Amino acid sequence: MIFEQIAAGGCQSYLVGCETTRAAVLIDPEQSRIEHYRMLVNQLGVHIRYVVDTHTHADHFSASRGLGKALQAPVVMHRLSPAPFADLRLDDGDMLIVGELRLKAMHTPGHTRDSLCLVAEDRVFTGDTLLIGGTGRTDLPTGDPHALYESLFEKLLKLPPETLVFPAHDYKGRSHSTIGIEIADNPRLQKVERTAFVDMMQHLDLAAPTHLTEALRTNMSGGRTVAQMLAEAAREVPFMSLAELNDRIGRNSGALVILDVREKDAYDKGHIAGAVHLPRGQLELRTNSVLPDPTVKIITCCEFGKISTLAAATLRDLGYMRATALDGGMKAWSEAGYPLEQ
Ligand SMILES: [Fe+2]
Repeated sequence: MIFEQIAAGGCQSYLVGCETTRAAVLIDPEQSRIEHYRMLVNQLGVHIRYVVDTHTHADHFSASRGLGKALQAPVVMHRLSPAPFADLRLDDGDMLIVGELRLKAMHTPGHTRDSLCLVAEDRVFTGDTLLIGGTGRTDLPTGDPHALYESLFEKLLKLPPETLVFPAHDYKGRSHSTIGIEIADNPRLQKVERTAFVDMMQHLDLAAPTHLTEALRTNMSGGRTVAQMLAEAAREVPFMSLAELNDRIGRNSGALVILDVREKDAYDKGHIAGAVHLPRGQLELRTNSVLPDPTVKIITCCEFGKISTLAAATLRDLGYMRATALDGGMKAWSEAGYPLEQ
């Protein structure tokens, strides 16, 4: 079996494949490691047949959709997954054939309604159903402690005790465990009575994951993350440095529109001399009157350099082919000691 475990923060993802045919599957790929997966695929000389998400992740950004598209591999999730981009939806007991390798899906709701575990030969990929020394939480959307109890005690823990356990998370750098070790040592699995287990799960008092809303929004719908939108905009526009802009203002070098896209109060407190004010929110509607010449060089600026990047990309979309974003915002401008006008 070809087997690679890829850690990103506390997230664990896996590339599992068949030695003979070089067919492989990616399990729970994470957005920040996309380049790494691509490198592994090339290095190992494998074809990715499927990209699997063990469940709708609430705590990180799934790379399944993007990788599935790029590698032309169907995205696999449980039948109950809300993600519209899931190409292949599995039921309990369904099997994926990856060369000579067989991955059997076990529906294990509890952490989420659409949680799957995947059994392959001597190991099981447990997603967030079973972690090393823990279990997935059940207090996030579609979580259910009763369902988790059944999934664990009536299903997953019935696998042979020597089965290797590879979870979707480990925050302590451990790579795997076994079903037997977890039954013996996992504190949560010591509550073998349903009511005691459910009671424990209902009183864990955990903080919400950092990116809960955004992760659910993008993982459920395939919508882009804020970071992705900014990265895309940044690829569509060139930038100008603070020093270069300051220099050009000093030299009074030809037609240059500095477009300040902040709100009025920020603009009034201090802006670059001669900057035209057009808030980001009114950009599309007022460009024709504020920027009558589509051939003019426009430098967009905002407070931190992010909204100005989006604004420059929008302007390019609208046909202002020389729209450029300031590399840095007004905060960096004033910290660098460049002049402001009120
Ligand atoms: Fe999860």
